[in-house]
Amino acid sequence: MSLTNIYQPDLMEVLDVRQQTADVKSVRIRFRDEAKAEQFSFRVGQFGIFSAFGAGESTFNICSSSNWKDFIEFCFRRTGKVTDALWGIDNNDTIGFRGPYGNSYPMEKWKGKNLIFVGGGIAMPPIRCAIWYALENRRDYGQITIVYGARTVGDLVYRNELDRWAEYDRVRVVRCVDPGGETPDWQGEVGFVPAVLEKAEVSAEDAVALVIGPPVMIKFTLPVLAKMGLADRDIYTSLENRMKCGVGKCGRCNCGPVYVCKEGPVFTLEQMKQLPNDF
Ligand SMILES: Cc1cc2nc3c(=O)[nH]c(=O)nc-3n(C[C@H](O)[C@H](O)[C@H](O)COP(=O)(O)OP(=O)(O)OC[C@H]3O[C@@H](n4cnc5c(N)ncnc54)[C@H](O)[C@@H]3O)c2cc1C
Ligand code: FES
Repeated sequence: MSLTNIYQPDLMEVLDVRQQTADVKSVRIRFRDEAKAEQFSFRVGQFGIFSAFGAGESTFNICSSSNWKDFIEFCFRRTGKVTDALWGIDNNDTIGFRGPYGNSYPMEKWKGKNLIFVGGGIAMPPIRCAIWYALENRRDYGQITIVYGARTVGDLVYRNELDRWAEYDRVRVVRCVDPGGETPDWQGEVGFVPAVLEKAEVSAEDAVALVIGPPVMIKFTLPVLAKMGLADRDIYTSLENRMKCGVGKCGRCNCGPVYVCKEGPVFTLEQMKQLPNDF
């Protein structure tokens, strides 16, 4: 009888490492086992548990589109033990990967809707996978509005892709940096994300919004979306509760009875309001 160890990571070859900001890198990886590379699939919004051998495991969103078959991509901020170790990886190195885990963005349900993406700082990676997916299935979605901000110009993640997205039909990209974070050649907005969203006068008609960012950004963005007319059931976010197993075994990620790793990380505001206030 063969027993599968659910905690055993797959070995992944590092294909490409890019420094996005002073403390953020994006990494493309591929299964070393060719058969696994062929079989692997995921849905946008899902996450993985990535390991730097000898240092430990960390949870990151898969930030590539599920339409891309040659690699999966993740993007991380250097904050501690594991991300310090991952900071040093290079092409051809091997890291570990478990996943995909969690639920996903309801891209099927969103068909025909206008999409509003609102992100702050390192929150761009979990939004980016949904943006690319929607752009690659452009006819399935209405107007796409992306409002993305960071503290400074240098903190914008995937900055070069913002211009590429803006070239698509019926896509509006609004970039902003906090006051004082602009450079002399900055052509975007200066202001905090919620205020910039409000000023942008985005139509909320038949729209859904995906909002991911620091808690303070989310706190002040939600009333703006409500004022625009979006119902709680049409506002989505992705939670980042600390996780260990990723598969509903350890209880590390719980919000009351809800396992965020299994029933989330994607929730509507309507669902979040049913959760105990400990996320
Ligand atoms: C579903 C999910 C998706 C995530 N996606 C991403 C992503 O795409 N990119 C990314 O950079 N990070 C993401 N995170 C957060 C990431 O998992 C942690 O920042 C990372 O595990 C820190 O690992 P570390 O060992 O380097 O830091 P540690 O040494 O464990 O901690 C360093 C510092 O980071 C804090 N920290 C650790 N984990 C979290 C967390 N989950 N939330 C908030 N603070 C934390 C600690 O409290 C400490 O202050 C995600 C988390 C979850 C649960
Ligand atoms: S991370 Fe272990 S139960 Fe969710």
